[in-house]
Amino acid sequence: MSGCDENPTTSRTVIAPDEKLNVTFYLDHEGKPYYSAKLGEKPLFYKSQLGFELKGAPNLLDDFIATRFDRNQVDQTWTQPWGEQKEIKNHYRELKIELKEQHGLHRKMNIIFRVYNEGFAFRYEFPEQENLKDFEISNEVTGFAFSGDHTAWSIPAYGDNRYEYLYTSHPLSELTDTVCTPLTLETKSGNYISIHEAALVDYASMSLYHSGNNKLRCDLVPWSDGVKVKTSAPRFTPWRTVLVSSNAAGLLNSRMILNLNEPNKLGDVSWIKPTKFLGVWWSLHLGKETWQYSPTHGANTPNVMKYIDFAAKAGIGAVLVEGWNKGWEDWKFSFTEPYPNFDIKKITDYARKKGVQLIGHNETGADVANYEQQLDSAFNFYQRYGVHYVKTGYVGSRVNAKEWHHGQFMVNHYMSVVKEAAKRHIMLDVHEPIIPTGLRRTYPNLMSGEGARGQEYNAWSEDGGNPPEHTTILPFTRLLAGPMDFTPGIFELTLKDKPNNRVNTTLAKQLALYVVIYSPLQMVPDLPENYQGHSAFQFIHDVPVDWEYSEAINGEIGDYVTIIRKDRNSRDWYLGAITDEDPRKIEIPLDFLSKGRKYTAEMYLDGPGANYNNNPGSIEITQKEVNRRTTLRLDLAPGGGAAIRFTPVR
Ligand code: NOJ
Ligand code: CA
Repeated sequence: MSGCDENPTTSRTVIAPDEKLNVTFYLDHEGKPYYSAKLGEKPLFYKSQLGFELKGAPNLLDDFIATRFDRNQVDQTWTQPWGEQKEIKNHYRELKIELKEQHGLHRKMNIIFRVYNEGFAFRYEFPEQENLKDFEISNEVTGFAFSGDHTAWSIPAYGDNRYEYLYTSHPLSELTDTVCTPLTLETKSGNYISIHEAALVDYASMSLYHSGNNKLRCDLVPWSDGVKVKTSAPRFTPWRTVLVSSNAAGLLNSRMILNLNEPNKLGDVSWIKPTKFLGVWWSLHLGKETWQYSPTHGANTPNVMKYIDFAAKAGIGAVLVEGWNKGWEDWKFSFTEPYPNFDIKKITDYARKKGVQLIGHNETGADVANYEQQLDSAFNFYQRYGVHYVKTGYVGSRVNAKEWHHGQFMVNHYMSVVKEAAKRHIMLDVHEPIIPTGLRRTYPNLMSGEGARGQEYNAWSEDGGNPPEHTTILPFTRLLAGPMDFTPGIFELTLKDKPNNRVNTTLAKQLALYVVIYSPLQMVPDLPENYQGHSAFQFIHDVPVDWEYSEAINGEIGDYVTIIRKDRNSRDWYLGAITDEDPRKIEIPLDFLSKGRKYTAEMYLDGPGANYNNNPGSIEITQKEVNRRTTLRLDLAPGGGAAIRFTPVR
């Protein structure tokens, strides 16, 4: 296989600001557009195709000439209203190529590349023109021709459980499924690459399949009629994003996907607030209480008031209630009719008095037609009762019995829900969502979501629950895309009510996950009685959900990871370290702490004999004075972790 330039008739290269990564665009002698990329002199991507096949119109694949090149450079910093980091640097070099067909319809198509120090991205633009108005895309041929048979961590793109699968790793040559993005790969020379997309609006999600010779190709998730995208010019496609790092942790420190999204379109967003929340939830997954109306119905007024009391006492900002509305018997839901034992007026009045927010719940059962009919009234209902957070859900293998969750139909549905919610100052936590593409920058009320196998599987899955390595893969894959409502924080790990299920971590690892898995809406999911009087609960009470700064400081995919974060509202730092099923000793230089300051490190560590398998609850809570010259030596148990708070000594 040759390098970049196979007799290009036209070629242009964009070099990253630090001059390492470089991406070349070129047209071959048939006028076919391609790109290739290198890291220094090392090839990352060979000749990779660009273009489209259209339905009922000639394809947009070749016969192009470049009519114009524009270069641009941006170096700015912007502020997130909430997030994993307050100030975000956006520094890239851009090349826009205007293409035009030489013959036939003379249609125009532009391609825009942005090259960052930590990766690159490109998207297509269909400008306004006579011969391309309404059109249907039957295939986006975008390719990724890797320079070797890299190892990829993947989940299948087409399955009945949406994105809720355990990741597996395979060399590209053994990838038989079509897989989801973010797709993360490790090269033989120890570089890491992750492919995803940014600003997915009014288009289908991109999945990928191996087309031979270490090449992946874009496979847009289709409509039920087989068309991939129904659209019209002028418009932009989403960005195709490629992160590149010489170490696995480096992938986590990129903010490129956020940077590629449009700035906030909601204006004043001071009403948008991260929070922790309890829920009438785990009891339902454990089968102790029911969603539907029954003698053990969970969403009854006195029970919900108990949760509100506990939240108020424990300083947890909100309470989610599932199973409050009619329809759980047959999954034909009303979004405005509570069960008779759920007095929403009394509950919301009580919550207000106690300074606790109620989180509403709209499970649609993937009957989006039913939800869309009620959407206005559903959100008006919540607005009337002062409910500012809503968790939505789309359980089901196909939407409206025919569409994929991640095709264009649902991309547009999720977006319309975000906009309707924003009008009423409602923040969203979307379950069975599309994996995020950074739209929280543009619509900051789209706060968190699921889009991976979460904690809930530990309560009922028949495959033994999430293995210890699951949460050491997520940060390098799904979480690169954005926040996840994983629901860490189970304390009663052996699940005495479910003899065949358990949580495969130590208690310290559950705490560490609050730092490792970023979410502005972070659940405190266990039954209140399992937290009551437990000294480890202090960490959950303390840990923030809004950060000034975040950094992954070490990690290997599927083995371990350590993340440090600084609180946005104090001088405290937090650290979360987790391991897979193997015990691990890690050394952490505390050089991120401020100069000239002493800190108390409150450490929640795996205790004597701790082991996810037979002694998950063993925890050691100790304090130690440290400063930026200290190196911590942590001993992580099998399936274990460490959670640490650093507070300046006054
Ligand atoms: C699946 C969601 O992930 C879970 O959190 C919720 O409890 C159930 N659906 C019911 O809506
Ligand atoms: Ca789910």
